Amino acid sequence: MPYPAGRHFLQIPGPTNVPDRVLRAISAPTIDHRGPDFAALTREVLAALKPVFGTSGPVVTYPSSGTGAWEAALVNTLSPGDRVLAFETGHFATLWRDLAGNLGLDVDFVPGDWRHGVDPSVVAERLAADPGIKAVCVVHNETSTGATSRIPEIRQAIDDAGHPALLLVDTVSSLGSVDYRHDEWGVDVTVSCSQKGLLLPPGLGFNAVSEKALRAAESATFPRAYWDWRPILAANERGFFPYTPPTNLLYGLRESLALHNEEGLANVFARHRRHGEATRAAVRAWGLEVLCLDEREHSPVLTAVLVPEEHDADKIRALILDRFNMSLGTGLGRLAGRVFRIGHLGHFNDVSLAGTLSGVQMGLSLAGVPVDPGGVNAALRVLENT
Ligand SMILES: Cc1ncc(COP(=O)(O)O)c(C=O)c1O
Repeated sequence: MPYPAGRHFLQIPGPTNVPDRVLRAISAPTIDHRGPDFAALTREVLAALKPVFGTSGPVVTYPSSGTGAWEAALVNTLSPGDRVLAFETGHFATLWRDLAGNLGLDVDFVPGDWRHGVDPSVVAERLAADPGIKAVCVVHNETSTGATSRIPEIRQAIDDAGHPALLLVDTVSSLGSVDYRHDEWGVDVTVSCSQKGLLLPPGLGFNAVSEKALRAAESATFPRAYWDWRPILAANERGFFPYTPPTNLLYGLRESLALHNEEGLANVFARHRRHGEATRAAVRAWGLEVLCLDEREHSPVLTAVLVPEEHDADKIRALILDRFNMSLGTGLGRLAGRVFRIGHLGHFNDVSLAGTLSGVQMGLSLAGVPVDPGGVNAALRVLENT
């Protein structure tokens, strides 16, 4: 393979491009995880994480992927056989359903078309029909489809029904990129991880936890050991963890949270919204279809693009990787071959988006997909004028 000049464009919807400052922070020497410098690092990082979740409560941090953080949310708050309400918004909602089923939970899985977020009126209907539901599980940003669910409206539906169910929300691909408010929106457990909006490599999982969820953890009867919040929170009080923590990722987290603070979270969110809008302008000008059908639910972090029936989205992705050294997201589950996903999140600016869309436009054209070459210009107009 010849040396590929220039940087690889990692435009999948996570893991995302890690900023150089974060990579340098991670490369510092590992320190004693039982010493005073480490305790100071833990305290600093756990405090700095809270604003990103919009919480004043604890954020349990694991050396794990997002899947581990899903499991942690369930085993800490529920008991075998409990009924939970979940929604088929796409591939990741389906995987979370499978995990819950494997644990022995009884999942009421509301079917969906993979083109919408969760409908709050359906939450209300299901809860009214079943007072025994113990938790409502929602994926905030469905990474397989680019549809975002409206968490405040879902919370309102739970409150209107006067239902005691816990609200568990997956923010794996929205946290740090999309406005999110754990406390204000009355979320009980917010699940997330490091490799997307938090600008880090994979390896950290999170549970932000409400007081109600902490109380539920006392009566939950799932066996739990590694995922148990209680010993972790007790050790965190002293600045430590009950196991060997991922020290270098925590250095990286300190740096990535500093980057977020320097830019300002409101500006980070606005930047992602703008890039989503510009990307959709390009897709429409190309004459292609955005998968997400509801204007209120378009994801600021990724856009899933439907390709015409006679084309295979994975072949277009392969061509773009080969010719332009750019990775796009594949179609997952039932969307395999039907869509490609453009990640526009994380360490990303206007010119990165212009380059990304140029690569996509050239790739579509080379693959023989009939696209209007005005797509990139349509996006540039949005960037110039907003
Ligand atoms: C919305 C969502 N939830 C959960 C996961 C699973 O996270 P992980 O692959 O880190 O286990 C992903 C992964 O991309 C995701 O996008």
